[in-house]
Amino acid sequence: MKFAFFDAKPYDKPSFDKFGAENGVEFKYFETKLNEDTVGLAKDFDGVCVFVNDTVNSAVIDKLCEMNVRVVALRCAGFNNVDMKYAFGRIHVLRVPAYSPYAVAEHTMAMLLTSIRRIHKAYIRTRDFNFSLAGMTGFDLHGKTVGVIGTGRIGRVFIDICRGFGMKVLAYDKFPAREIEDGETVRYADLDELFSQSDIISLHCPLTDDTYHIIDEKSVEKCKKGVVILNTSRGALVDAEALLSGIKSRKIGAACLDVYEEESDFFFEDFSGHILEDDVLARLISMPNVIVTSHQAFLTEEALSNIAQTTVENIVGYFKNKQCPNELCYRCGNAEDCRDGKCF
Ligand code: NAI
Repeated sequence: MKFAFFDAKPYDKPSFDKFGAENGVEFKYFETKLNEDTVGLAKDFDGVCVFVNDTVNSAVIDKLCEMNVRVVALRCAGFNNVDMKYAFGRIHVLRVPAYSPYAVAEHTMAMLLTSIRRIHKAYIRTRDFNFSLAGMTGFDLHGKTVGVIGTGRIGRVFIDICRGFGMKVLAYDKFPAREIEDGETVRYADLDELFSQSDIISLHCPLTDDTYHIIDEKSVEKCKKGVVILNTSRGALVDAEALLSGIKSRKIGAACLDVYEEESDFFFEDFSGHILEDDVLARLISMPNVIVTSHQAFLTEEALSNIAQTTVENIVGYFKNKQCPNELCYRCGNAEDCRDGKCF
């Protein structure tokens, strides 16, 4: 099986080469992202392997089908970059539903601690032999309330980490998992209560029509003054302009962003030495209380290995059995319900 691997980075290759070679899957690496202009590169391949910022829209799907390429193997969990409705019945979309919830949850806590204890500032100061503590006052996490939106795999690990810090957790999920409520530190609440009571809000839900701009001007208005917003899920969960206004008005105390709505134009590439065209991103980065990482929350050795292994297993499973438990269906948004044709 030959797969065209788009948006390839040096850190992808070792694990994909290893699991590919062990299972008879050959990857041809392309640095470019998949989109309408580059889809032609997939000619003569059995499938394409894509990541979060590749584009799998109707035009790309049509072209892939025309070239008889029938499998899109996502090497990520989120699939908002795939037009699933259009893909249905035309092309098979496989994904990696989980690879290391710890990687993302731990990165979220790393960003939070960095931000509220001013570690990013201290690092730069002491390198310049500036040992002053002026402006470095932080706050304890112990006893604070964190609002967690999305209590799936990553949200739950993050909740466990927060409990370890002695924080109270208000959770919100479209499909609450009541078993995580402990009657003491973790309970579900509606969004209004979560916004108005939380000192910190962390997003761990997928990007859907329901969650698009879940943090916008209206929700920011409902928040506590000084709220810290954490987004390690998907950029468009946050209206970046509303976030910026909230920061400028001092309503938002800090923001930690591993994702950004327009990230596909910038993230994963080196723009140092260039003039950044996105004024909102540039302004956010210029703020002393905003930390941006470039969609790196997943990037641990464990996660990279799990991603490669599951992607290869998906491909092998699909070509051997014409069925893969991680195939996506646009109707249920996951695989489990599709297995016996319930959704199809
Ligand atoms: P998951 O599928 O285990 O959990 C998502 C949770 O969100 C589920 O409990 C679901 O019921 C809930 N949800 C769905 N619609 C909702 C809504 N309208 N409002 C509130 N909750 C809703 O997914 P997982 O593995 O925990 O991943 C969460 C998100 O993290 C992914 O969707 C992805 O966007 C992001 N992610 C980011 C990474 C990064 O490197 N920054 C890496 C991996 C995932």
